[in-house]
Amino acid sequence: MSRQTMSVAIVIPTYNEVENIGILLGEIKKNVPTDVDYEIVVVDDNSPDGTWKKAVELLENNIFVVRRIGLKGLSTAVIDGIIFSSKDYALVLDADLQHPPEYIKDMISEAQKTNVDVVIGSRYTKGGGVAGWSKTRLLISKTATLIAKLFLPSVRRISDPMSGFFMVKRRIVLENLSKLNPYGFKILLEILERCNPKTVSEVPYIFRPRIYGKSKLGAKTIIQYILHVMKLSGWRPFKFVLVGLAGMVVNLGVLQLIGFLSPLLINQLFAVGSAISIEISVVFNFVLHEVWTFRDRRSGKAMARLALFHVSSAPSVIVQYLSAVSMKYGLSMNPIIAQLIGILIGFPFNYIFSELGIWKRKSV
Ligand code: GDD
Ligand code: MN
Repeated sequence: MSRQTMSVAIVIPTYNEVENIGILLGEIKKNVPTDVDYEIVVVDDNSPDGTWKKAVELLENNIFVVRRIGLKGLSTAVIDGIIFSSKDYALVLDADLQHPPEYIKDMISEAQKTNVDVVIGSRYTKGGGVAGWSKTRLLISKTATLIAKLFLPSVRRISDPMSGFFMVKRRIVLENLSKLNPYGFKILLEILERCNPKTVSEVPYIFRPRIYGKSKLGAKTIIQYILHVMKLSGWRPFKFVLVGLAGMVVNLGVLQLIGFLSPLLINQLFAVGSAISIEISVVFNFVLHEVWTFRDRRSGKAMARLALFHVSSAPSVIVQYLSAVSMKYGLSMNPIIAQLIGILIGFPFNYIFSELGIWKRKSV
């Protein structure tokens, strides 16, 4: 059986890349396998250095230049390039040669072999890497990757969801255009989270140092990145904290109520009264997480999740319980400090266990 002809649009976002664009176009021509039907779409945001003009000088019948006026941003440029193009796949590539064009053939051949929805050029899979990065830069990149994996289940099994070098079936982007909100610069994250690709492969590559021009991504992109991940997560961590605070109020309120109904339970039998109010607040938190925080992630049996939620609340419950009881029986401990320790120890465990253990999958 002969393989179907592969058709690929190479989408290149550019901003002030005048020294690179000519070299890049030459390299691409050398590296796309001859049996592939391809076009090149350069999307330039009216670069002051005239990158668009230089690209226009190099036009051929499979090269297009989209010059956007009054618009700026890497992610929207990539989306516009994908919309403009007309092939089955779009292959997104930086213009500065940091994504070496030699790897184009590996990516295309992976797509040909597997017909996956997304092929990612990965720095963090076996055989991939980064050349010329300091330890700090590597640490920042790895931390950012970990953050994405914690909050976004769709990228947990992907080694490099922050890559700017990837191929995607144009159809899945077009079908989900209204869901895309290309904020920030991590367009791959947006696509993985919003376009629900069914199959993803990764191909290793080595990220090269920039020779000409400067990076456009600066310190403020870190904050932008965190906001982007929060947005994609539906602000879940904030919902989780709010529910936790409400649970604390319920805990104290129930204790008051118990004292009102049966003073014995907050005096001689305080250990029992305290346990009842803590249990009620744990169940209260669970119900709110089910119907609000993790509404879209309920899969399997609710009772099993409730049991696991008890495990996940255990560290903070134990600290709260011991400190409440020991204070009641005369051990001197500042109640605020005791609560704070309970929260500090318990919260990260509770959250991480909930994300990765209890509500780890999207419900369908
Ligand atoms: N059209 C357009 N508009 N292009 C832009 C813009 C913009 O506002 N900002 C940047 N670009 C282009 C650049 O010209 C370059 O071709 C590409 O987008 C990447 O920009 P760089 O400034 O070189 O980014 P970087 O090298 O710091 O970051 C790259 O690596 C990261 C991984 O560490 C990007 O590929 C990121 O997406 C990637 O996550
Ligand atoms: Mn770059």
